[in-house]
Amino acid sequence: MVMILSALKTWVSAATLVGAALAAESDVASQGDLCSKIASVKKWVAPNDVRACFQSYKLNEKIRSNIVEVVSKTLPFHTSVNYQRQAPPPFEEIHEDLPGDVERISKKKYNSEYDMHIELSRAFKRLNDGHAAWVNYCYGLYVNYLPIPLSLITDSNGQQSIRIAFEAFDVAKAEFPDQVDVWQNALPGALKGKLSSLSGAKVLEINGNDPWDAVEANVAIAGSYQAHTTRQNAYFASYQRSTTGWVYRMGDFAQQSLPLSDSVTLTVLRLNQTKSDTFTLPYRSRFGSTSVAFADTATWRQNNCVALSTTNGVDVYANTTTSRRARKHFVNEIVDDTALVNVALPPTVTPPNPLNISQSVSQFYLLDDKKTGVLALGSFSDGIAGFNGQIATLLAGLQALKAAGTTQLIVDVTNNGGGYICIAHWLHRIIAGPKETTEPQAGLYTTARAGPLARLISETIAEYKVDPDNLLLYNSLNWAYANNTSFPPNYDWVSPVVPKFINGHQDAFTQRLGSECPASSFNSTAPAHALFDPKKVAIVSNGRCASSCSLFSITMAKKEGAKTVVVGGKKGPQQYCGTVGGQSTDFATIDTDIKTTKLKNNTLSPPDLIVNAVNGITWRLGYGVWSPDEPEEWQSRPADINLPVTADISNNPVKIWERVVKVAFN
Ligand SMILES: *[C@@H]1O[C@H](CO)[C@@H](O)[C@H](O)[C@H]1NC(C)=O
Ligand SMILES: *[C@@H]1O[C@H](CO)[C@@H](O)[C@H](O)[C@H]1NC(C)=O
Ligand SMILES: *[C@@H]1O[C@H](CO)[C@@H](O)[C@H](O)[C@H]1NC(C)=O
Ligand SMILES: *[C@@H]1O[C@H](CO)[C@@H](O)[C@H](O)[C@H]1NC(C)=O
Ligand SMILES: *[C@@H]1O[C@H](CO)[C@@H](O)[C@H](O)[C@H]1NC(C)=O
Ligand SMILES: *[C@@H]1O[C@H](CO)[C@@H](O)[C@H](O)[C@H]1NC(C)=O
Ligand SMILES: *[C@@H]1O[C@H](CO)[C@@H](O)[C@H](O)[C@H]1NC(C)=O
Repeated sequence: MVMILSALKTWVSAATLVGAALAAESDVASQGDLCSKIASVKKWVAPNDVRACFQSYKLNEKIRSNIVEVVSKTLPFHTSVNYQRQAPPPFEEIHEDLPGDVERISKKKYNSEYDMHIELSRAFKRLNDGHAAWVNYCYGLYVNYLPIPLSLITDSNGQQSIRIAFEAFDVAKAEFPDQVDVWQNALPGALKGKLSSLSGAKVLEINGNDPWDAVEANVAIAGSYQAHTTRQNAYFASYQRSTTGWVYRMGDFAQQSLPLSDSVTLTVLRLNQTKSDTFTLPYRSRFGSTSVAFADTATWRQNNCVALSTTNGVDVYANTTTSRRARKHFVNEIVDDTALVNVALPPTVTPPNPLNISQSVSQFYLLDDKKTGVLALGSFSDGIAGFNGQIATLLAGLQALKAAGTTQLIVDVTNNGGGYICIAHWLHRIIAGPKETTEPQAGLYTTARAGPLARLISETIAEYKVDPDNLLLYNSLNWAYANNTSFPPNYDWVSPVVPKFINGHQDAFTQRLGSECPASSFNSTAPAHALFDPKKVAIVSNGRCASSCSLFSITMAKKEGAKTVVVGGKKGPQQYCGTVGGQSTDFATIDTDIKTTKLKNNTLSPPDLIVNAVNGITWRLGYGVWSPDEPEEWQSRPADINLPVTADISNNPVKIWERVVKVAFN
């Protein structure tokens, strides 16, 4: 107590005072400072100690009402809210009343702010719309791990079993060198020190139950994807190409973004053994790579929980000394709060010898058959090369594969969460060549939700011409009529609205928007001919392909006849992508439009957030290819091919691609 008060004197900013005042109300006196306990241990701690720190911080009503007001007043910008009150087949298990849940959370009694955070975050996750998320960095402080990621393996008889990943020990040894001994020593009896002997073991029970019970418990809270099967797949280990290398996604069993579990008890049959083993392993929490160091409750709050300069929007014309940058390229990108770390894919399975034109998230390979080219594409947003750089790399890489004589193409988009919308159009266009489906546009028609505040913003920009430099989201210059002619300047494109009646609720959307990536938006010139026959293109993933990745996959599959392949997953139909959206954004971006149009004082406008959180939004919905008057989001997209994962190809990209060649191109 004394320490906090003396520290207070040196703190100056208004934000600091909020953090300090709130910290003083936590339960410090009775139990000692539970956050200084984990802070002193530093990197690795027990999850229950992280939870004890979080739960020692009581819910402050000022914070609750701020969060609830921001979220409630932002809800009218989310496109999926009324649709997800009851999704149609095959997504019929989804029925979330998000406004109702926010209302309930605004009144419920909670023992701590953390308990409220979990409920709000899960309410958003139950929408199963991966763009619409509530992420509070205050609680992303530690990431919870087990050293035994799981895989779903199919044997030669077609029988499926959940196994500890064959590469589990290699991954754990490389990623957790400073923690492996803790797990080695936690193993009982003859297993002690033999973590490596668990790799490949068949999992018979998780916490005394059928392992699929644990998978399904995670499906209920995983969020992000509507398809049940895709949420199952999230439980298992997989891979992805990142900007800096091939990374290993541990899966939701072995990695949790919150300190939810303290330990797990498994019954397994190890390789070459006839008797099963039962053991308990602790989860361990590692300090997050983007978390800011802290010493106690006050500094945890101050450094990680208070709004940053980027949390809220700005009036972009308020400061004449700052240079203004036009927002040119819009994104459609999933918000994944479990993707915080870069665990390396083991070198033994990392694809060797990419073509030297490869860069960052876009890697090109020539398979041994010399007929098949591979584009491994981890994202439609290249954090190193940027928009123009990725456009150029995709073109040069595919041209290099073609020059090498390949006639068929695998595009591996495993765990690709999207990125720039126009890069999805570009990739489709350069593969398929100029034709009716790609010129002038390779994308989908879209619509944005037209809530009362959205209408006011659009009307204000048009009427008062407040955005001469086109810096705002709602500026008409960014969008086009359904005939793909750009809107004129200062045109109120949101009104008149198109009324819709969705799941018993009156709703309103904008007119149909044409696509917005004309040839002039690209710095490279698209070739005059198709680089590949689209029917000889296979789009491959674990189903976890979202947003701009979905825009690319859906238009390639439904308009061009490209083959879709889902690798792994439980037997039965697998969806080849999800979380389609049309364009994603977030609260801060909407708030910038609100502030710049001077509507912040309107009663419809959300206040500034006082916490360090992001509220992701699906701002536009793409219309379907096969049912063009309905959003593509709720249409079924079963993969052409479900490729069972056998032990020899599990998480081994090259072996997976060679298997895909056999099943997709013969
Ligand atoms: C299991 O037995 C096979 C065949 O004898 C052997 O090749 C393999 O190395 C053994 N695996 C383990 C983990 O003991
Ligand atoms: C305006 O921009 C300058 C330079 O970036 C910055 O120092 C100043 O704090 C800004 N003022 C406001 C009111 O945002
Ligand atoms: C890239 O590969 C091509 C073809 O093998 C070769 O001609 C070129 O010199 C290489 N460039 C670099 C920078 O290594
Ligand atoms: C306009 O764009 C849409 C969506 O990209 C496309 O499907 C359509 O063919 C285009 N229409 C015209 C008239 O160019
Ligand atoms: C596209 O539609 C708008 C609105 O109906 C119209 O004003 C414009 O002339 C059309 N453009 C073309 C090229 O048909
Ligand atoms: C093309 O690249 C140049 C130079 O890098 C840049 O100034 C320009 O804005 C780019 N054009 C587009 C449409 O991105
Ligand atoms: C909002 O109202 C307050 C208090 O009346 C005023 O000080 C402020 O300038 C107003 N802000 C805007 C953006 O109109």
